[in-house]
Amino acid sequence: MADTLSKNSRIYVAGHRGLIGSALLRRFKADGYVNLITRDHASLDLADAGQAALFFKEQQPEIVVLAAGKVGGIVENKIHPADFISRNLAIQLNVIRSAHLAGVQRLIFFGSSCMYPRECAQPMAENMLLTGQPEPTSMAYAIAKLAGLQMCLAYNQQYGYSRFVPVIPNSVYGINDNFDPASGHVLSALINRFHDAKVSGAAQVTLWGTGSPRREFLYSDDLASACLALLHTDLQKVELPVNIGPGQDISIKELAELVAGIVGYEGDIAWDSSKPDGTPRKLLDSTRMKAIGWQAKTALRDGIQQTYNWYLNHKAQII
Ligand SMILES: NC(=O)c1ccc[n+]([C@@H]2O[C@H](COP(=O)([O-])OP(=O)(O)OC[C@H]3O[C@@H](n4cnc5c(N)ncnc54)[C@H](OP(=O)(O)O)[C@@H]3O)[C@@H](O)[C@H]2O)c1
Repeated sequence: MADTLSKNSRIYVAGHRGLIGSALLRRFKADGYVNLITRDHASLDLADAGQAALFFKEQQPEIVVLAAGKVGGIVENKIHPADFISRNLAIQLNVIRSAHLAGVQRLIFFGSSCMYPRECAQPMAENMLLTGQPEPTSMAYAIAKLAGLQMCLAYNQQYGYSRFVPVIPNSVYGINDNFDPASGHVLSALINRFHDAKVSGAAQVTLWGTGSPRREFLYSDDLASACLALLHTDLQKVELPVNIGPGQDISIKELAELVAGIVGYEGDIAWDSSKPDGTPRKLLDSTRMKAIGWQAKTALRDGIQQTYNWYLNHKAQII
């Protein structure tokens, strides 16, 4: 089968200023793709059906990476569940439907490991989706993501094509992450907390929970490589959806110590066990992804170091 992706393909990266979208955009540029289409949120609201439909009709993209969405950590998910479900459902519905009508050849949709049951056997394989209840704190987000995944599969099934590719990356980190302690993800929030503690000379940093949950972290550039591989692959040979993770997890306590070491924070780390831990373990079984020849290349220590370097150079603009 001919490759769907060429250097002249009209490629739309939705959410190109975010963590994942920016990694894809960097990779497409570095690899010499010349017809890249981007719009920031202010000029195109993908949650607005009319705007999304008009954009696809006018631009006729051939490839879409759908990295626009509402994303956040435990606290944000708890406070704004209505925003998580409504914005993500609206963006997915508008983009996937418009992509179908515009004849898009391939679209990557990002699901989340939050979609798996809270008590899922580890590592989590794709056939374990919908075998139990997701973690309650991120339920609204998980249900929106499950709906997007099913939408991709439903379009592929009804129209007899394999164009829409739902993928499930584990916790992504890297440059352009959200470092805000209140709304960001755990790894980027830890970088910010420890950096501020180092600068202020704090003797102790108290973190939420017990530190015992285990998580798997994927560097954004490794996710971009996985997406490129999926855009080149003959999808007839790939069972969807596809988990994407490096295959190794780490406890939050070990992660905190690693981040503190990289940042150079030398004070104590205390744990507030009255705060929720979330799902005990989230490790993906990425056998399907590895079968098409991909594997993560960035060691966690190196990825955190690169992320911290970027944070230091951009702190004034991002926090
Ligand atoms: N980060 C992870 O660990 C992870 C893991 C698995 C899956 N995912 C999924 O991957 C996707 C991208 O995540 P991310 O971490 O890169 O998120 P991010 O850094 O927050 O970026 C999301 C992007 O979407 C844009 N956006 C939000 N609402 C929009 C709208 N209504 N119209 C147009 N653009 C809109 C944002 O623009 P503004 O900033 O201007 O609003 C931002 O550029 C999300 O669907 C997320 O659920 C993320």
